[in-house]
Amino acid sequence: MSEQTYYEKLITANDRGKKAAGENAVNYIEDGMTLGLGSGSTVYWALKKLSEQVKQGLNVKGIPSSKRTESWAKNLGIPLTTFHEIQELDLAIDGADEIDANLHLLKGGGGSLVREKIVNTASKRVIIIADQSKRVAQLGNRPLPVEVLPFGWEVTAKRISHLGAHITLRDKENQPFISDNGNYILDCQFPLITDPAELHNTLIQLVGVVETGLFVELADRVILGQDDELHYLE
Ligand code: 5RP
Repeated sequence: MSEQTYYEKLITANDRGKKAAGENAVNYIEDGMTLGLGSGSTVYWALKKLSEQVKQGLNVKGIPSSKRTESWAKNLGIPLTTFHEIQELDLAIDGADEIDANLHLLKGGGGSLVREKIVNTASKRVIIIADQSKRVAQLGNRPLPVEVLPFGWEVTAKRISHLGAHITLRDKENQPFISDNGNYILDCQFPLITDPAELHNTLIQLVGVVETGLFVELADRVILGQDDELHYLE
């Protein structure tokens, strides 16, 4: 099955919610905007809708937050640029794995958290798109992805485990998963995360940690879909 066919299988209400949220986010894009293009299956739907508008003459340029998004955008004919050309973006549209009531996010399920955080923090406005199941009372139901340097990852993992997490080195086909930046991802199962900012600040100070999947105070608006129904948080 091709990757596109895989993403276009709309089996569950949440799959259809991703499509509805992704397509809806494109309404916030205006002619001439520079865009942060997030990662994940929900963003796929935003890119697909955006490509229709580009074909009709909408003038935008995007910076992709992963190699996969870059390849989708190229296939869909969405013009791309780089941070060499522009350092501030008008709008980023990205997905998330968990979203709490304060719009703090847990991200990195696809392993693109470093580039996503660079793109989101470079954007004047960030819209998060997700299916309804991503909404949680507290972050940390699923493991927190932390990108680390491969060198000495075992030492870094041990230090994180001393903070109370159960650590798994992410793998792909029985080899360590390698991020777009050439790093490893540690999936860190903490007890529920009561203070995302504090945990992020603690983790980011550990030598070997490149970035965490905690996105605190970055989202301006969240669009949640379930079937065709949309809910907005801000
Ligand atoms: C990748 C991410 C994605 O945005 C997140 O995993 C959501 O993915 P999906 O839209 O497929 O549910 O953070 O690093």
